[in-house]
This record gives sequence, structure tokens and C-alpha cells, in this order.
Amino acid sequence: MLSVAQLLKTYPARRRAVHAPSRAVDDLGFEIEAGHLFTLLGPSGCGKTTTLRCVAGLTTPEGGTIRVAGRTMFSAREGIEVPANRRGLGMVFQSYAIWPHLDVYTNVAFGLQVAARRHRVGARAIRRRVERVLSVVRLDHLAGRPATDLSGGQQQRLALARALVMEPPLLLLDEPLSNLDAKLRDEMRYELKRLQRDLGITTLYVTHDQHEALAMSNEIAVMRDGRIEQLAKPRQMYERPASRFVADFVGTTNLVDGIIERREGADRYVVSTDVGDLVATSAAEYPTGLPVCVLVRPEHIELLLEPASGRNRLSGRVEATVFLGEGAEHRVSVAGRQFKVRSSAALEVAPGSPVMLSLTEERCAIVPAD
Ligand SMILES: Nc1ncnc2c1ncn2[C@@H]1O[C@H](COP(=O)(O)OP(=O)(O)O)[C@@H](O)[C@H]1O
Ligand SMILES: [Mg+2]
Repeated sequence: MLSVAQLLKTYPARRRAVHAPSRAVDDLGFEIEAGHLFTLLGPSGCGKTTTLRCVAGLTTPEGGTIRVAGRTMFSAREGIEVPANRRGLGMVFQSYAIWPHLDVYTNVAFGLQVAARRHRVGARAIRRRVERVLSVVRLDHLAGRPATDLSGGQQQRLALARALVMEPPLLLLDEPLSNLDAKLRDEMRYELKRLQRDLGITTLYVTHDQHEALAMSNEIAVMRDGRIEQLAKPRQMYERPASRFVADFVGTTNLVDGIIERREGADRYVVSTDVGDLVATSAAEYPTGLPVCVLVRPEHIELLLEPASGRNRLSGRVEATVFLGEGAEHRVSVAGRQFKVRSSAALEVAPGSPVMLSLTEERCAIVPAD
């Protein structure tokens, strides 16, 4: 549906800049299947917004091609650049615009009413679509209110509703939930995902929020310095990050440096580390002696209060515990290294207590040591 290849964008260096201009987007390529929600995830400044603006036609790249549903929107080589207003895409940006002189309902209905003259959408159908979208973004009770009398978060939802109601072939969303408080953001994640799926709107979504990306996406591309570091489905991204950078950025993690000691069977390795030998899994080939990292998530470490021996068992001491409501997170020091460990909130353990950590072998992954 959307295909981006070899995209390049450099901004001119600032005056008195020490460094040469760096590439905001550097040889970027990805494809989005029709009906999928594809997320560009990465820290601030990695090039997410620039990529989205190139697809929208608001920024001109120096190189590459952009195709939407087989139609070339941009091609540096062929000298094609379709103007933004002819690309027929829906978008909501970090800085969103709404029509201040119209009320909420009319803001959302406006685009459909204009299109209705061409596509013969009936007044009843328009009302149904507007009401559905307003209820998704939780603005149905404010339909009659002037747009200027909305809070920042409500205006953001209005901008979203306006784009959604058009059911565009491709929807571009740049941090559309960033101005909402935590609870509303959680709820809107589900609603937005549901609507996107129900309507089958192919969506390019941009966020720096890993939870949002994991919850909503069919595929995620983690970006770093204008490039894609890893492209994967959410579960794979979380369980099998391809690099230290991705492991750190997506979810809370424990990373232990080590060296491949030996292979055990098809997918298991013994890794020698500062805290002892750890058994970890990977389908990749690693030669003995190679420096690697062992990755294990806090929820895949069991905290034992009784001494126990066996593989992937480490003895340590609890340094601190924070209560998270649905569970607890502990900092446990093992041979001078800290591990983050999740447990149920029911487990009570005082700071300073000696404990055993049991790392689930199947859940210990190997990540290249950069
Ligand atoms: N209009 C601009 N002029 C100069 N540099 C820019 C401009 N827009 C973005 N940049 C730079 O390009 C890089 C990528 O920015 P951006 O795409 O906004 O990142 P993100 O959306 O991931 O935070 C950053 O280093 C940023 O400072
Ligand atoms: Mg941005």
C-alpha cells in the first residue's frame, strides 16, 4: 500500500555548526501492507517526523521514491513530486489545526460535506459517520461546542476525528495521543486501534512511546539517526531485539555482557558472564569466544526466597522494592550488578534480604554486543 525506498533528507547545517550537515533521514525504506498499522518508533530527533512529512508531501527529500497504492508520489530519479493536496492522504500532526469558527460536529463533518458533492454521500450517512468517530474520540457530548472552547487534549482528539472520518486510503499520524493524560491515552489506544482495524485504514504511525507502539502496531520500525535499526512485529521486537539499542528502547530490560562459551543443541548457548554462566537461546550462529549480551526481561526472572541450585540461578541481595499496584519491581544486586525483577505484589521481601534469581532459559535472548 505504501512503499518507501532509499529515502534521503538532509537539512542544511546551522550557522556556526561544528559538524557537517547530518542526514535526518538516511537511506530509509519500508513497506506497509494494506490495512496495517505500521509504526516508526524512536527517540526524539531520529527522523520520524521528517519521514512522515516526506510521505505527506510537506518536505521534499533529496533522494528516494514514495509510492501509495502503486502511484508514484515522489521519485527523485524520475523527477516526480505530487503536491501534498493531490496525494489524498489523511494526517494528524503534533501541531494540529482545527477550524476555530466552527463547532465540533461541523469541524468533523466539513470534509465529508465537501466530498459529498462529488461522491454522493447522503446527509444520513454523513451524520452516522461523524457520530461514530466522535464517540470513538469521546467528543460526542461536546458536538455543539465551539472548537476554540476545547482543552488541548480535546483539540487533539478533534483533529484525529477529522482525519478518521474521511477514511483516507492512507492515514499519517504523528504522536496523535501525546497531549492526553495517561488514562485517556491508554483508552484511546484501544479505540483508535479498533477503528483503524474496523475501517481497514492503512496507517503510518509515529511515536516515541514504546507502549503505544507495542499495543497498536502490526509492524514496528525502530529508528536511530535516520535509519531503521530493526523492523519486526511487536512481539518479536520485544522478545528478540536485534541490537542493544532496540532492547533498551523497547521495554525495561536486563542486559548482561558476556562471551559465547559453547553451543548446546540447536538454539541454546552457554554464555560466560561476570555473574557466572548463563544459558540463553538464539537461532543465530555465534562462534565460541564472541562477545555478546544476554537479555532477560524483569518479568522473566523469578525471585526465590529459599536457596536453590541449578542452571541460571544467581544469588543476590534485594536493594530496593517499588510497589507498582499490579505488581512489584525489585532491584537485586548480584556480584555488583543490578537486576530488575518483577514479581506479584503479594511477594513481600525486605530490603537487604538474600534471594535467588531464577532466569527462565527460554526467555534469555542473545543480542549482539554492538
Ligand atoms: N526544519 C528543520 N531544519 C533543520 N533541521 C531539522 C528540521 N526539522 C528537523 N530537523 C532535524 O532533523 C533531525 C530529525 O528530526 P525529526 O524528523 O523532527 O525527528 P523526530 O520526529 O524523530 O523527533 C533532528 O536532528 C532535527 O533537529
Ligand atoms: Mg517528531
